[in-house]
Amino acid sequence: MQANPASHPDTRGRGQASPGETYNYRVIRQFSIMTVVWGIVGMLVGVICAAQMTWPELNFGPWFHFGRLRPLHTNAVIFAFGGCALFATSYYVVQRTSQVRLISDALASFTFWGWQLVIVAAAVTLPLGITSGKEYAELEWPIDILITLVWVAYAVVFFGTLAKRKIKHIYVANWFYGAFILAVALLHIVNSLAVPVSMWKSYSVYAGAVDAMVQWWYGHNAVGFFLTAAFLGMMYYFVPKQAGRPVFSYRLSVVHFWALVFTYMWAGPHHLHYTALPDWTQSLGMVFSLILLAPSWGGMINGIMTLSGAWHKLRSDPILKFLITALSFYGMSTFEGPMMSIKTVNALSHYTDWTIGHVHSGALGWVAMISIGSIYYLIPRLFGRDSMWSVRLIDTHFWLSTIGVVLYIAAMWIAGVTQGLMWRQTNPDGTLAYAFIESIKATYPYYIVRVTGGALYLLGMLLMAYNVARTVMAGRAEDAAIPAVAPAHA
Ligand code: HEM
Ligand code: HEM
Repeated sequence: MQANPASHPDTRGRGQASPGETYNYRVIRQFSIMTVVWGIVGMLVGVICAAQMTWPELNFGPWFHFGRLRPLHTNAVIFAFGGCALFATSYYVVQRTSQVRLISDALASFTFWGWQLVIVAAAVTLPLGITSGKEYAELEWPIDILITLVWVAYAVVFFGTLAKRKIKHIYVANWFYGAFILAVALLHIVNSLAVPVSMWKSYSVYAGAVDAMVQWWYGHNAVGFFLTAAFLGMMYYFVPKQAGRPVFSYRLSVVHFWALVFTYMWAGPHHLHYTALPDWTQSLGMVFSLILLAPSWGGMINGIMTLSGAWHKLRSDPILKFLITALSFYGMSTFEGPMMSIKTVNALSHYTDWTIGHVHSGALGWVAMISIGSIYYLIPRLFGRDSMWSVRLIDTHFWLSTIGVVLYIAAMWIAGVTQGLMWRQTNPDGTLAYAFIESIKATYPYYIVRVTGGALYLLGMLLMAYNVARTVMAGRAEDAAIPAVAPAHA
């Protein structure tokens, strides 16, 4: 396709680095290792939640109850696992494509320790029942303030590094990371505005339908910018790198970027169909969700087609398998989402496990797989090795994850559609054909399949931890030198 010189992380330089200068890999090493650690913790809690839904006797006391562990799971996987993967990769990508060191080691280090503190605070407060009750924004106000401080530092490090870049062109991955940082700052501040009444209790400044609207403007854009745009940044760097090919179309990546960031902002009301929200806002949300299919698939196709001429590598390269399978799941979940946003479809899917299936095809299939692939790419480079300790183990991990996610989402789709159909079934006299408990009984076998799928996925993560530990032990923490003259390869 089109051969723009800047269509690959290989770009042309505009300056010289002083001899002996290195990239800051220390903070990337820290975030990369913690990605694996928090991935295991978050998914373990996910498996426990799945088991609790299957065998309710596993709900012990207030602290180990599903209601408290569920937000712990979502916070751990999204913000701890996903967040650490994003910090690690964005710091790597911004340095390599700008060919400069991060502007401040101290601030970068603050983002690492600050973010770990946020995670630990979440892990302590959520099981204690301290929560603002807003999904994906449960943390109470003192932690929200800490998040804001870390985020401002992150923005300063990221944009500051971009500002002093030696490469004239800003590679497209940085656009996606940049949009993610700005949008998350906006979402977090607006949605978390609250009046504190004590150290660990506050009330949102919004009420009623306005609160719901703000919450799902936040919630949907957390999906759009945290779980999507930022991981697309990862895709635009690591897929071309691992495939050894330039991005399929640089022009498409620019259209993809602007179309995606513009459209996502309007789609939030699809979470509030048939509620007290004004009807026109629901319809607007639905229309924008349908439009969203186009940029999402444009991006997915751009990523997958980057493999043109290198398809054979998929046979032998498990890292590439992770990256490309992630893109396939991205395509699947961004087809499913617009369908679920159609009001009549949502009337069936809402409140059922279909939503949970959709979430995890995005979360396990897209977010986790693209992160896992990228971290496998990074670890040997950060620890001075040619490759991971065992490539076969990466392959085993790939198959465990793929089988795990397929079991999980297929089970949830069947369970969800079964629930939706049973709940709306009526007798000729208009009474409900099924009691609620009957739909739970019908769902039971699929919950067992979900636990199995989740356990396989978790097992894969444990293999990854072992493989990473062996690679780290055999290697040596090394910071790559910044090339004196910008080379052809970043
Ligand atoms: C071993 C892997 C995992 C298992 C077994 C698992 C299991 C679960 C369970 C049982 C729930 C509660 C469902 C319900 O309330 O009906 C849940 C919710 C959720 N999980 Fe996971 N999960 C896993 C991995 C992940 C990952 C990696 C992510 C994100 C990157 C994620 C994101 C979410 C989200 C966002 C929800 C809330 C969904 C909603 O409210 O609609 N999960 N998960
Ligand atoms: C074009 C893209 C997408 C559209 C239009 C879309 C649309 C939807 C719709 C209609 C729902 C159900 C709302 C409800 O009935 O309550 C939903 C739920 C959800 N989606 Fe998507 N989706 C998209 C992509 C994704 C991706 C890529 C991910 C994850 C990585 C994701 C994560 C979620 C989550 C976490 C929820 C559950 C929110 C909650 O109720 O807690 N979505 N999405």
